[in-house]
Amino acid sequence: MTDPQTRSLGVCYYPEHWPEEIWAEDAARMVETGLTWVRIGEFAWSRLEPTPGAYDFDWLDRAIEVLGQAGLKVILGTPTATPPRWMLDKHPDMLAVDEEGRPRGFGSRRHYCFSHEGYLEDCRHIVTRLGERYGANPHVAAWQTDNEYGCHDTVLSYSEPARRAFRDWCAQRYQSPEALNRAWGNVFWSMEYRDFAEIDLPNLAVTDLNPSHLLAFRRFSSDQVVRFNRAQTEILRRHTQAPLIHNYMGRILSFDHFDVGADLDIASWDSYPLGFLLDRMEASEAEQSRFLRQGHPDAQAFHHDLYRAVGRGRLWVMEQQPGPVNWADWNVAPLDGMPRLWTWEAFAHGAEAVCYFRWRQAPFAQEQMHAGLLRPDSAAAPALGEAQQVARELAQMPEVSQGRSPVALIFDYPSAWAWEALPQGADFSYFGLVFDSYRALRRAGLSVDILPAETTDLTGYRLVLAPGLLELPEALQSALRRFGGSAILGPRSGSRDGDLTIPTPLPPNIDGLDVTTARLESLPPFAPLPLATGHFKRWFEHLEGQAPVSFETADGRPAMMGADGLYYLAGWPDDAAFDAILGQVVGAAGLARETLPEGLRIRDTETHRFVFNYAPETLQFDGIDIPPAGVHWQAR
Ligand code: GAL
Repeated sequence: MTDPQTRSLGVCYYPEHWPEEIWAEDAARMVETGLTWVRIGEFAWSRLEPTPGAYDFDWLDRAIEVLGQAGLKVILGTPTATPPRWMLDKHPDMLAVDEEGRPRGFGSRRHYCFSHEGYLEDCRHIVTRLGERYGANPHVAAWQTDNEYGCHDTVLSYSEPARRAFRDWCAQRYQSPEALNRAWGNVFWSMEYRDFAEIDLPNLAVTDLNPSHLLAFRRFSSDQVVRFNRAQTEILRRHTQAPLIHNYMGRILSFDHFDVGADLDIASWDSYPLGFLLDRMEASEAEQSRFLRQGHPDAQAFHHDLYRAVGRGRLWVMEQQPGPVNWADWNVAPLDGMPRLWTWEAFAHGAEAVCYFRWRQAPFAQEQMHAGLLRPDSAAAPALGEAQQVARELAQMPEVSQGRSPVALIFDYPSAWAWEALPQGADFSYFGLVFDSYRALRRAGLSVDILPAETTDLTGYRLVLAPGLLELPEALQSALRRFGGSAILGPRSGSRDGDLTIPTPLPPNIDGLDVTTARLESLPPFAPLPLATGHFKRWFEHLEGQAPVSFETADGRPAMMGADGLYYLAGWPDDAAFDAILGQVVGAAGLARETLPEGLRIRDTETHRFVFNYAPETLQFDGIDIPPAGVHWQAR
């Protein structure tokens, strides 16, 4: 049995937005609501260092004292996502530059370039001052670095500092221009370099850029985020024992979260189900309308499972949507009960803490239309009551242990970059492929652990899926050889080397599976390929080899090959095809499939089964009526 989970609630608060006279009252009300955590400080740089080198920590001292005295634990954010205006005068070239070569100006946030050494040095200064002052403060029980790396499309920067840093990165990775030329195939179109100093960033070219160059730039850009975050964790570790956390965003693929997470103690993320449904989950119009006020029934769960892996088992939700947000195309109010459901779902997937964003709605600036737990006039907004209800329920809830899920799904950031660099079809999306696989597993009632591609141990799993994985690392292949369950690889898995060129013998080169992709095609939305059941959409590989055909196209060609627990999938199945393929494999893997009504989702932990109703109507499960936004749990 794994350790039972601790669970608590919190809120994001901005003392600098409110008169000091109301801090104590706010703090008392947070405690009365049943909150444990309060996150502060992450955008307050202009108040902490109003002019360069002149610090003002007095107000923050008092805020932490007031909150701590009330009984709250403080999560202190470093303010590096919002460099103040004076920073630009100090470092005019610190701004990130977009693909068209335009600087990303001051006036919102995240305008910095990760590669600017002067800005990084100023970040080190402010983090050092914060660490020295609050590292041993008994009320500061956790730290957040920066805020949402990558949000607002801010990882890639085509600045001069980025260009210099990329050349150094290439020199380190390839050692000689000849090796780089060979790895990228630069003999093609006379793209060979004589010196690393000749290499530019991959933008503003006439037509297609070399995909190897693009992938290298994506790897570099991700490494810059890791370096930036590490500069902060190295300082904070010297001053505090408290856990270090970053708040990731949903569906941000522009940096390797596993790499950033390796320097942190807990992975947290910011969950905005209603904004995400309309702006990033590729939901159909029918799904958008059915789940408009609840969110996509798999989106939150997917990110909980992903970030639980990034946090090596330790997960928080740092920001939980409490009501309408301000940033999606349309911003509806949640169905009553949904903030409670989202909170319980996070706990069911292993979250230790869920913090609502934000305490009180701000009457000014960009997010004045964004709900909080309180209205701008301090009256309770609807989610306050739901937070109180969860706090009461937590006190009665038995101990839950997560344990291992029966199914593992591999998720790999470089694969996302690779297929963006070499899509071959306008709608090929790595995230979309993995998410469709996840949805299919959840439709079958299966609980999932997401694992990185570097996984070396699959003990305990019954089924492993690795769709679209750029490379099949040797360690993963050897784990698969020892694996007693069933594995489905493909499409595209193992089809390129780390520099995005085609290996010979031709892919997928899976040990113990005689399958070769002889040719492949991408399929436009109006021409899906009919299968024995359902269709392949977007992608189809023509397979050769001696492995048995385990699923066929309607005209009798292989759609999946393999037997005895190891399979290669030739395309991107639609929902009907996925259900049929899983139907075939899941039973053989020794797993039971559920047939769930649309919108009902289950999460099995080691000790409990949780059932969530995302549908707008009452649904039945195991003879129990579960109302809309209903949450049900029982011991297993
Ligand atoms: C998050 C961000 C918060 C706030 C919130 C609004 O992405 O971290 O600072 O902007 O969105 O929904």
